[in-house]
Amino acid sequence: MTRSSSAKKVLVTRTFPGPIKETLSQFDLNYRENDENLSYSELKALVKDKHGILCSIPDRIDTGILAAAKNLQVVSTYSVGYDHINVEEATKRGIAVTNTPDVLTDATADLTFALLLGIARRVAEGHNLVIQKRWKDAWSPKFMLGSDLAGKKLGILGMGRIGKAVAKRALGFGMKILYHNRTRLSKKEERSFSANYRSFDQLLKESDFVSIHIPLTEETYHLINANTIAKMKKSSFLISTARGPIIDEGALFEALKKKRIAGAALDVFEKEPLPADSPLLSLNNILLTPHIGSAAEGTRYKMGEVAAKNLANILLGKKPLHLVNRDYLKHGKSAKFS
Ligand code: DGY
Repeated sequence: MTRSSSAKKVLVTRTFPGPIKETLSQFDLNYRENDENLSYSELKALVKDKHGILCSIPDRIDTGILAAAKNLQVVSTYSVGYDHINVEEATKRGIAVTNTPDVLTDATADLTFALLLGIARRVAEGHNLVIQKRWKDAWSPKFMLGSDLAGKKLGILGMGRIGKAVAKRALGFGMKILYHNRTRLSKKEERSFSANYRSFDQLLKESDFVSIHIPLTEETYHLINANTIAKMKKSSFLISTARGPIIDEGALFEALKKKRIAGAALDVFEKEPLPADSPLLSLNNILLTPHIGSAAEGTRYKMGEVAAKNLANILLGKKPLHLVNRDYLKHGKSAKFS
């Protein structure tokens, strides 16, 4: 342990899977042995003297928190998404922001596919029917008909790591892949996923399933709204494991209620947990899960490993595994990586 590293103060905002304590043991560590989220004021009080914080999606790291944390050098989030952090403000203050991509790609793509299959083949509906003892006829040719997958078009909005992993799975199910992305893939990559590029509008118009894999930004907020949903096929399904506010839930509710699209399967919501009075809960053409895209044991362990390593590396002047804001280096505080 070096004198300088042991003097650095670190806050871990709650208990996380993964070797976090071990990796950060060289620092003056405040590891909250608590599985509940900190309130905003608790977080603000705790960050005051910290050099590093390891946090997660419910911890809102905004200007108030960043201003309160005078010594802060790094915000390491235990997630790939970082829309809960004011990255621009952190950058201006010379604070590194790090995240955990790659390790959760497969788990999130798996859940996307579970949702896609679940809504297409009415799995939850069937389960409820059996459990509630409402299954009457042994077998009936028109009973609980769902949608085929083979030959159907899957429109992937956002062909990054997770979008590509979803495409791989869809190919195994005989689906045709359309995608829209800010930057078009190379011809070689398009060929490797048998993926065809479409404009955003065209993707909505042609797809039988639209799956969202883009980050939440000012540009993507309510990108899926009444106007864009109106472009989708009446028989199509919407799936999202990205971030809730990308979809205008009010507009989606209206569209589902009036059967303007066939169904939706969502793991993420505008407000989480989903409020008990959400109108979405009254629909039967919907499948809902509680933000569990990366919730697989091995994945969550690796996320902890990466988040802790990212934090330690920044405080030790080394390159982190995943840095969100390279430009933070221009704003003082930390020297260039060794
Ligand atoms: C992430 O890491 O951003 C995921 O949403 C967590 O499940």
